[in-house]
Amino acid sequence: MRVLVTGGTGFIGSHTVVSLIEGGHEPVIVDNLANSQPSVLDRVASITGVAPEMHRADIRDLEAMTAIASRGFDACIHFAALKAVGESVEEPLLYYDNNVAGTVTLLMALEAAGVESIVFSSSATVYGDPDSLPMTEEMPLGSATNPYGWTKITMERVLADLQAARSGWSVSLLRYFNPVGAHPSGQLGEDPSGVPNNLMPYVARVAAGRLPKVEVFGGDYPTPDGTGVRDYVHVVDLAEGHIAALDRHHGDPGVHVYNLGTGRGHSVLEVIKAYEEESGRPIPYEIVDRRPGDVAASWAAVNKAERELSWKARRDLHEMCADSWRWEQARR
Ligand code: NAD
Ligand code: WQD
Repeated sequence: MRVLVTGGTGFIGSHTVVSLIEGGHEPVIVDNLANSQPSVLDRVASITGVAPEMHRADIRDLEAMTAIASRGFDACIHFAALKAVGESVEEPLLYYDNNVAGTVTLLMALEAAGVESIVFSSSATVYGDPDSLPMTEEMPLGSATNPYGWTKITMERVLADLQAARSGWSVSLLRYFNPVGAHPSGQLGEDPSGVPNNLMPYVARVAAGRLPKVEVFGGDYPTPDGTGVRDYVHVVDLAEGHIAALDRHHGDPGVHVYNLGTGRGHSVLEVIKAYEEESGRPIPYEIVDRRPGDVAASWAAVNKAERELSWKARRDLHEMCADSWRWEQARR
């Protein structure tokens, strides 16, 4: 399939572009490089032997997106979004404009071009703070604790409403849990500018001696060791989940919702310990106050993706840490 990949030079997008090429598909990237570098294209080429086509454009630009979308695509995988939770609280209009208005504009361009198949990057954040675990696809959507989360809930709504009105559309909503790790080649990964917001990139910088210690947000949660529990999933497993959804649901009208996670949770202290073991570096930490908006624990029910997509995350926490560490070191 020829697949338009918005946000394809970003963290998850770049790994998915590699998986698409390896799966025999032809990805074409659209990215405005707001949070990525064009050098990713050379890295993808060095891993796969194929340099993907890329258009530098903003998904909010209807004229540009209409021109690009008309170049003969079978499907779109839509990653492009801003994702910093704290920034979304400071700049809600930027987030609604980029994520929600951007998605609406993209969908207008796809509709005009007759592209009716889309795989969308959603998030476990749409479940809010549920009453029970694991989180299943049937659970009602929760109340987000920040504007970023609301943009994901809103974009899911926009896509479901579109599918209800245009019954030929195939919409796959993939709800990622906590994507981490990097490509095992050490050539692709996540490189947040400034101080990382997310745990694993932060831990990586402490292991590398670039930050002094990890602040563990809360030691009094109702979890086995008192620290927050999350379902960390390797970014290469996640990338493969997109190919599975595309292959399964292309030409299959409807709204198809899947959790992408491993189905098991790890605490903050377990992540620090696994990273210490894989990096061989000490990782000092201090337990501080809880971070506002965090839930105690989150992990996915994964049987639906296993059953319907024949997809299952295969890489464990140690592999996630080892690949993250290889990427961290490759860039110094
Ligand atoms: P990322 O920032 O690395 O990638 C997003 C890409 O989109 C970047 O390359 C950025 O330049 C591009 N982009 C942003 N706005 C754009 C616009 N208006 N026009 C064109 N390009 C634009 O983030 P990621 O971690 O790869 O996330 C990809 C998707 O997955 C996002 O939709 C994100 O919300 C979602 N998601 C991420 C996580 C996570 O923890 N990383 C978890 C759940 C969901
Ligand atoms: C993981 C755990 C923290 C940093 C966020 C978004 C979510 C999704 C993925 C996109 C929690 C703890 C963290 C630190 C810590 N993104 N922590 N010290 O919060 O589960 O999810 O990213 O959709 O929407 O909210 O991930 O990596 O920030 O935190 O103790 O310096 O690590 O409290 O328990 P989170 P995270």
